[in-house]
Amino acid sequence: MFNPKLFENHNVVVTGASRGIGLEVARQFLDCGARVAVHIGRSADRALPDFLLTAVEDRRAFLIAADFATSAGTRQLADKVLGNFERVHVLVNNAGTMIGRFPADALTDEQYEAIVQLNQTSVVEVTRALLPALRAAQGAAIVNTVSISALTGGSPGSAVYSASKAFVATYSKALARELAPDGIRVNCVSPGTIETDFHQRYSSPEKLEQTRKSIPLQRLGTAEDCAPTYLFLAAPLLSGYITGQVLEINGGQLIC
Ligand SMILES: NC(=O)c1ccc[n+]([C@@H]2O[C@H](COP(=O)([O-])OP(=O)(O)OC[C@H]3O[C@@H](n4cnc5c(N)ncnc54)[C@H](OP(=O)(O)O)[C@@H]3O)[C@@H](O)[C@H]2O)c1
Repeated sequence: MFNPKLFENHNVVVTGASRGIGLEVARQFLDCGARVAVHIGRSADRALPDFLLTAVEDRRAFLIAADFATSAGTRQLADKVLGNFERVHVLVNNAGTMIGRFPADALTDEQYEAIVQLNQTSVVEVTRALLPALRAAQGAAIVNTVSISALTGGSPGSAVYSASKAFVATYSKALARELAPDGIRVNCVSPGTIETDFHQRYSSPEKLEQTRKSIPLQRLGTAEDCAPTYLFLAAPLLSGYITGQVLEINGGQLIC
């Protein structure tokens, strides 16, 4: 299924790859020959799948733990990436989560700031820090994870999260124009309702079943459904004339 040479000699950074969509994206880049800086989320102290441990042993992957709750965390990630890679061919900004469901009138300043820092500011900070290395790669790609909720507004309690994803989508479109002269393409993947830990935390089984029935393809998505689109948007061979776009991966949940 995978071309084992598609990303040969390419340095790839994937954030939020401890589990879910990011982990599968990292796995597929490794399968396609990339060297991958794998951001394993907030904690270095976690069980990792065998494929990742093998890739680390083979020096095809290295692991970085960093908490993006503060700017110190994104700086830490960037420093470690730049300590290993002179050039970055692909940056996938994927780390993010709702943090919680917060009714608009009860949202505290701390909650607001935490959602924005993780889902919005961290993307700007990581991108800014890695830009010289992306430019140096000549023909790099940035792929940012947004959300169907950036278009729909999401479900109750997710207003700031959904708006932060809309920020990233618009930021990506602006960057696509700004960075085109450097040969850098910038696109987004926008997942619908994907079965990862994300919904274990924020959605009841009843809500998920209701959503499933409303999806034309009659099922929720998986990380495996999403990951190939990241590789597609990262590969100049496959998508060299695509920039500034948001690709919706949602089984038809939103058609407009
Ligand atoms: N699942 C969906 O239906 C869906 C839909 C639309 C968009 N998305 C977006 O897709 C992306 C991946 O989500 P997922 O479904 O794969 O969720 P997930 O399984 O919860 O994974 C989220 C990833 O983000 C990392 N992360 C969370 N908080 C962090 C922090 N403070 N600092 C650093 N890393 C942090 C997590 O690391 P830890 O392991 O340390 O928590 C994990 O690696 C997110 O941006 C999410 O908003 C998901």
